Amino acid sequence: MNYSEIAKPKTKEMQVAPNLLGEGDLTSKTPWPEIERELGVDGRDSFNLAQLAIDRHCENGWGDKVALLWEGKDGGEEAYTFEQLRTLTNKFAHALAGLGVQKGDRVFIFAGRVPELYVSVFGTLKLGAIIGPLFSAFGPDPVRDRLLDSGAEVLITTPDLKARLSTILKDLPQLRHTILIEREVKAAELDQGDVRYEQAMAAAPSDPPDTTTSREDYSIMHYTSGTTGKPKGAVHVHNAAIQHYATGKWALDLHPDDIYWCTADPGWVTGTSYGMSAPWLNGVTQLIYESGFGASAWYSAIQKHRVTVWYTAPTAIRMLMKAGDEITQKYNLSSLRHICSVGEPLNPEAVLWGHRVFHQAIHDNWWQTETGAILIANYPFMAVRPGSMGKPIPGTTPGIIDEAGNEMPHDAEGDLAVRPGWPSMFRAYWNNEALYRSRFNNGWYITGDRARKDKDGYFWFVGRTDDVINTAGHLVGPFEVESAFMEHPAVAEAGVIGKPDPLAMEVVKAFVALKGNYEPTDNLRRELMRFIRSRLSAAVAPREIEFLPSLPKTRSGKIMRRLLKAKELGLPLGDTSTLEED
Ligand code: PRX
Repeated sequence: MNYSEIAKPKTKEMQVAPNLLGEGDLTSKTPWPEIERELGVDGRDSFNLAQLAIDRHCENGWGDKVALLWEGKDGGEEAYTFEQLRTLTNKFAHALAGLGVQKGDRVFIFAGRVPELYVSVFGTLKLGAIIGPLFSAFGPDPVRDRLLDSGAEVLITTPDLKARLSTILKDLPQLRHTILIEREVKAAELDQGDVRYEQAMAAAPSDPPDTTTSREDYSIMHYTSGTTGKPKGAVHVHNAAIQHYATGKWALDLHPDDIYWCTADPGWVTGTSYGMSAPWLNGVTQLIYESGFGASAWYSAIQKHRVTVWYTAPTAIRMLMKAGDEITQKYNLSSLRHICSVGEPLNPEAVLWGHRVFHQAIHDNWWQTETGAILIANYPFMAVRPGSMGKPIPGTTPGIIDEAGNEMPHDAEGDLAVRPGWPSMFRAYWNNEALYRSRFNNGWYITGDRARKDKDGYFWFVGRTDDVINTAGHLVGPFEVESAFMEHPAVAEAGVIGKPDPLAMEVVKAFVALKGNYEPTDNLRRELMRFIRSRLSAAVAPREIEFLPSLPKTRSGKIMRRLLKAKELGLPLGDTSTLEED
């Protein structure tokens, strides 16, 4: 079904003139020199993401401006100015250095959205160490895999989350210290190598650490899922600050007086690139809302803090739609002037719903962990075509290509690819050069998404080229879930697929074949659900488990998820010639 375009707004009538004013602003092939001048990094090889995002504003007279406005789960609020963040992050960098952490070491953080998390991330960056944020809903297994693979030496967490890891901490020989944030729960006792956050901070000096980082020094790593094997660590560099700043300005349309709210969890890339870096590089006050989703609670937060720019995700928007239009009228949401969404396809209905209840289009944009920042976006000045991801970020070149790496004509479906060289491009998969190289072909970075581009240059998402599941914006590697199943004594084989879902886009569904001496009972199904949930996380745990006598496999023994999915959807089974003969 075709949805009519949401007309271009009259920019002269907008509350605030957008940073990009028209199509002409999108076509510049070389916007980066000007952006570098604005950021003050032109001609410099050495700069540091944390200094640009925090210290720079103190040097430019914005030290007293609130950077972080925190609303805790219990409704309590705290505000931190750029100057306070400068001091705190300096101290944290010294505290880490005092533990022997050096440039390039991996420091991971496993905590909820508390102010200490933001201080830790930017303090780690100031020291030139690599920060690895972890989703706080993870169970022990994903945490162990990521700490092991990265060789992390320090873990920052809370006493209650540390308790969740009690079974795996002994498996991490490289982990030397655990820094405990004791905001809510105090540690009853300290294990060897444990450090109390508050004590370390109190003892640390507040002057800047004596480290310099270059553009190409590693800054952040995020693990992301693939079809096979364990998640891989996509590594980013300080240079990404340039694109975080630029896209914050162009796609999120950040202006100095904005109150900005990004709802993404800080354990995923949206939570760091746009829940930390982009707003602060733009000198904007950002709301950090500790609690999770709740329609009334979210609207009330927008009203209370007078949020002007809101960056959220399709699943959340669909949940708000489900909560109904009426509830939106109970709140004064008139402060909102720009709404953006990322992470999954945004249904045209959601864009139109936003237009009805918030009186403005919801602006979809596209990017991924590896791209580090937004690459395709709907901009405030332009007409929105509901269902489209928008147009390329100035200075970047996404394209639709065929298998040989040739660009395809408009409207043809192909691989979504990007010409390498955009500032925030990932620079490595940690310890996996071969996999990194395999993502490039004929002068393109291959994203793993299928898409098409219409004659006017709008990009449209079609699907993924692999078996990775996108549930509520979280990418789930089926292999990781299948491996967890295999650890249960009753399981002989497991195959995991994404099953379409009206709210979460996809939910995880598992097909399980049991060992001979186990019966496929409801009790066992519940036990398996609990088992996966406690090991991985509720977010990636299967919503459904179906027992089968055996699973379809290739002759080489690989489970054919494609067939499981086709069966689930009632589609033709396609080519089954490689099916195992029984
Ligand atoms: O498949 C695309 C989907 O999410 C993937 C990236 O996920 P991740 O690396 O976790 O990064 C999340 C932060 C952006 C993409 O390869 N995706 C992302 N944005 C969209 C999308 N699918 C459709 N429309 C989007 N706007």
